[in-house]
Amino acid sequence: MLRAGIVGLGWWGRIITTTLSNSSRLRLVAAADVDPAAEKFANAHGLSFTTDTNSLLTNPDVDAVILCTPHTLHCDQIIRAAAAGKHVFCEKPLSLAHADAMRAVAACNTAGVVLGVGHERRFEPPTLDLRDAVDAGELGTLLQIEANFSQDKFLSLPADNWRLSEKDAPAGPMTATGIHLLDLGVSFLGRPVTVLARVATLGSELRNGDTLAAMVTFATGTNLMISAILATPFEGRFAVYGTRGWIEIRDKSHPENPTGWTMTRQIGAKDREFVDYPASSGVRANLEAFAAAALGEGAYPMPQQQMIDNIAALEAIFKSAKSRTIVPVERATGL
Ligand SMILES: NC(=O)c1ccc[n+]([C@@H]2O[C@H](COP(=O)([O-])OP(=O)(O)OC[C@H]3O[C@@H](n4cnc5c(N)ncnc54)[C@H](O)[C@@H]3O)[C@@H](O)[C@H]2O)c1
Repeated sequence: MLRAGIVGLGWWGRIITTTLSNSSRLRLVAAADVDPAAEKFANAHGLSFTTDTNSLLTNPDVDAVILCTPHTLHCDQIIRAAAAGKHVFCEKPLSLAHADAMRAVAACNTAGVVLGVGHERRFEPPTLDLRDAVDAGELGTLLQIEANFSQDKFLSLPADNWRLSEKDAPAGPMTATGIHLLDLGVSFLGRPVTVLARVATLGSELRNGDTLAAMVTFATGTNLMISAILATPFEGRFAVYGTRGWIEIRDKSHPENPTGWTMTRQIGAKDREFVDYPASSGVRANLEAFAAAALGEGAYPMPQQQMIDNIAALEAIFKSAKSRTIVPVERATGL
């Protein structure tokens, strides 16, 4: 059993706390939040509480920390936790800049601790089946991916909320939802080389942008098309097209309350198949895979090069959304 402390008890920190309440691999024991009002929630879930984040990051009673804090804090908090010898699970995005992702990964490797990232979509049962189908060659050569993650949850946030700021959340919907699609794209297509992105405010008061389209081109020449909108009801769709067939996954609900998925499979001229998946928590599966790796039971199933490539492409998307030009994705060697 891995003993963990959680930093940030806002929306997602609370979802993670309740999701882990009956985990047999990972036990939350402590929480930190700069907002003292979070103490009530922590106590109700049996967690010790502090407003001093540093004291949690160095708490000898925790083996691992889970970071659920605003994006600009991630890199520094990872480095501080790793220096204290804690395994680190960081919510997405790992950072907002390629150089920071490199620094965070290096800090964990130097300290010999496991780094996990909150990309639960990789761990959802239909995604795992899609990966098996791709690996088995069922779809043939991959040609294109179309992906959509949209929602309207942020419309009720106050205008000064960090999630709506250019500093913490550049390119409108990109760090909230688009980043999950980018991560999945990298997991299927490998190395991203260029991006072209457009962000606009078309249907809300979100000054930072409510509608994003991005095209990411990979070294293979394959394109990932990302659609992410913050001013329309929830939609989740990931569709992979190949020379032998295609598979589309549709989410029935937001991952905060997973109610299952539908998969459509079209393989060659066979009858089209429709597969219904029951509810399952990718969030919990991801955290338990992290715990298993931290407990020495095998590698965390997300290559560090993909963590870094994802952030390099994210940074290129920020630049492209501003410049409205095609931007190359950086890749440093030496990992
Ligand atoms: N994996 C997912 O699907 C998913 C979904 C939603 C949010 N997230 C991620 O979770 C993270 C948090 O997002 P959220 O929506 O919960 O935000 P939030 O604003 O609801 O919560 C953030 C919390 O962090 C606290 N905080 C701020 N600065 C702090 C500091 N220095 N030390 C300790 N606590 C601090 C705030 O008081 C707040 O309680 C982000 O990285 C976000 O992208 C992931």
